[in-house]
Amino acid sequence: MYKVVTIIGARPQFIKSAAVSKAFLERQDIEEILVHTGQHYDKDMSDIFFNELNIPEPKYNLGINQGTHGEMTGKMLESIEKVLVKESPNMVIIYGDTDSTLAGALAAAKLMIPIAHVEAGLRSYNRNMPEEINRVLSDHVSNLLLCPTNAAVKNLEKEGVVNGVHQVGDVMYDVALLMKKLAPSKSNILESIAVSRKQYAVATIHRQENTSSIDTLAKILDYLRTQKHQIIFPLHPRTRKVIETHNLNLDGLTVINPLGYLDMSVLLANAQSIYTDSGGVQKEAYFYRVPCVTIRSETEWVETIDSGWNRLWVDDEYLPRKDISEYGSGDAANAIVNILAEHMNIH
Ligand code: UD1
Ligand code: UDP
Repeated sequence: MYKVVTIIGARPQFIKSAAVSKAFLERQDIEEILVHTGQHYDKDMSDIFFNELNIPEPKYNLGINQGTHGEMTGKMLESIEKVLVKESPNMVIIYGDTDSTLAGALAAAKLMIPIAHVEAGLRSYNRNMPEEINRVLSDHVSNLLLCPTNAAVKNLEKEGVVNGVHQVGDVMYDVALLMKKLAPSKSNILESIAVSRKQYAVATIHRQENTSSIDTLAKILDYLRTQKHQIIFPLHPRTRKVIETHNLNLDGLTVINPLGYLDMSVLLANAQSIYTDSGGVQKEAYFYRVPCVTIRSETEWVETIDSGWNRLWVDDEYLPRKDISEYGSGDAANAIVNILAEHMNIH
């Protein structure tokens, strides 16, 4: 039996790993052990996704959260190392670009355990983002670089990373397709917040660059308030804390708690437009063919802009619309597990 350890800790990582865990469960020859770093810990930021997406129970929850980047990464590194020494896996899998990703990458690299990075190669080329540091460093110690897009493959090439690079499609698209049938029958979110199809917009904001400056966050809230449609605003706990601490004005915005995946997918799919700084939500806007405005000065998901379904809030116009082929057809997770098996020499 081969063993992989998967490191997850933040909301988008639970969602991404759900598809890959499902693909592992279909194999008899690979055991997956989940390690939850504890980075996200509220029920509506963590447990709800495990329940809704049938993610196996993590064997370890390290309970590390609420610190500075260095503090969290350091504590996670120390704890993950202990788990890896105990479990002695054949590979470690990391997802995306959070502090949990970097800690997992460093712990495995120093123990010389091969690393597979899902969502490798994304770049904003903005080193002020903690995520950009996490991406670059994680990619450069990874053995398998599992890229969602062609742009990601090209970014790695520019940094001289060409070995172990595979373009596999987008695991979030796998999850969106898996849940597409289930979500409308399980969610009554539109009724519960009393909105009608295509008569409202959705906004999500949580990035450090948008929440660490009160002036920037206030400017974003003003911008959202002036949009034509009613804005439904599921509030990330980080953003809620800043708004409450500084008593920022939420008038004119319909604020709700963070939603589970099923409610969120129904809310997004039926929206007239989407305003976000989330990486995942930008792509989901495209999956549901809802026009998106990205509240950032750049995006890693450049194909959403090129396809005309997304634009930066500083730009006025969308480019002409076309489809994006690179996200695949819902089989990115199977491709990933097959590449991992091949790398571990499982035939
Ligand atoms: C993290 C990731 C970001 C990702 C986002 C997804 C890093 C550097 N950032 O940002 O890339 O886009 O997750 O949502 O890893 N909090 C709670 N309850 C929770 C989780 C967070 O109250 O369940 C509050 C805490 O005050 C915490 C703060 O939010 O200190 C920030 O959480 P953290 O995980 O450090 O960063 P995110 O902004 O969530
Ligand atoms: N999401 C959710 N409920 C919410 C907000 C977001 O289920 O209230 C989902 C969203 O649909 C997407 C993922 O969380 O699948 C994106 O995560 P997030 O925005 O926290 O992080 P990012 O993608 O920016 O790293």
